[in-house]
Amino acid sequence: MTVVRALWHLFAVVGLATAIGGVWFAAQGVGAIATPGALETALARTARHYLVPAALRARTNPVPSTAESLAEGKAHWADHCASCHGNDGAGDTPMGRGLYPKAPDMRLAATQGLSDGELFALIEHGVKLTGMPAWTTGTPEGEQATWRLVRFIRQLPALTDDDLLEMEDRNPRGRAEWRALEEERKFLSGTLDVPEPLPGHPH
Ligand code: HEC
Repeated sequence: MTVVRALWHLFAVVGLATAIGGVWFAAQGVGAIATPGALETALARTARHYLVPAALRARTNPVPSTAESLAEGKAHWADHCASCHGNDGAGDTPMGRGLYPKAPDMRLAATQGLSDGELFALIEHGVKLTGMPAWTTGTPEGEQATWRLVRFIRQLPALTDDDLLEMEDRNPRGRAEWRALEEERKFLSGTLDVPEPLPGHPH
């Protein structure tokens, strides 16, 4: 009898907590503008840490830290990751700031303190209920590319102005932006054909 009563008490407490949580959640609205509070961030990051299997977290980077692998990681980052994380990893981009949770400043200890294996797992599998996509291709080549990204992430706190300039050339651009750049280049080299104004245009 006492066991049944204890169970009812447990259900009542869990039910109440769920109801309070639901009201709190609904009161926030669906928008992504707000920044999650410190407690929510700490709880989410701790849960994320333990949800990555320990064996995966313990993996070490099989890719050597050569100039070649770092260059590949840098180019890959500029092309696929910088739209949210920024070339410098600060997350200070329109998309990175507009997400809930925001793209973190990956130069800081909170990210740099994660193991190589955890960074690898987060990139390959993504992070549920956040803007962080899964990038796995399910191939050994894809895994190698992810390990090179991990090597590059370790360099984020020490990037130079030259690195950042080089990455700007590798950021994805639409056709219109390429065309504008090409015209700017032609204009600067004096070879742009400026169209004649239409004759007799009323305004
Ligand atoms: C559409 C936006 C978006 C893109 C593109 C993106 N990310 Fe993320 N990323 C996020 C967000 C948001 C988080 C924070 C997730 C969280 O709080 O758990 C994140 C977190 C991470 C983290 C964990 C860092 C930490 O301290 O929480 C790593 C590592 C990471 N991203 C790597 C990458 C790499 C590498 C790429 C490119 C291949 C990439 N991301 C592309 C949005 C993005």
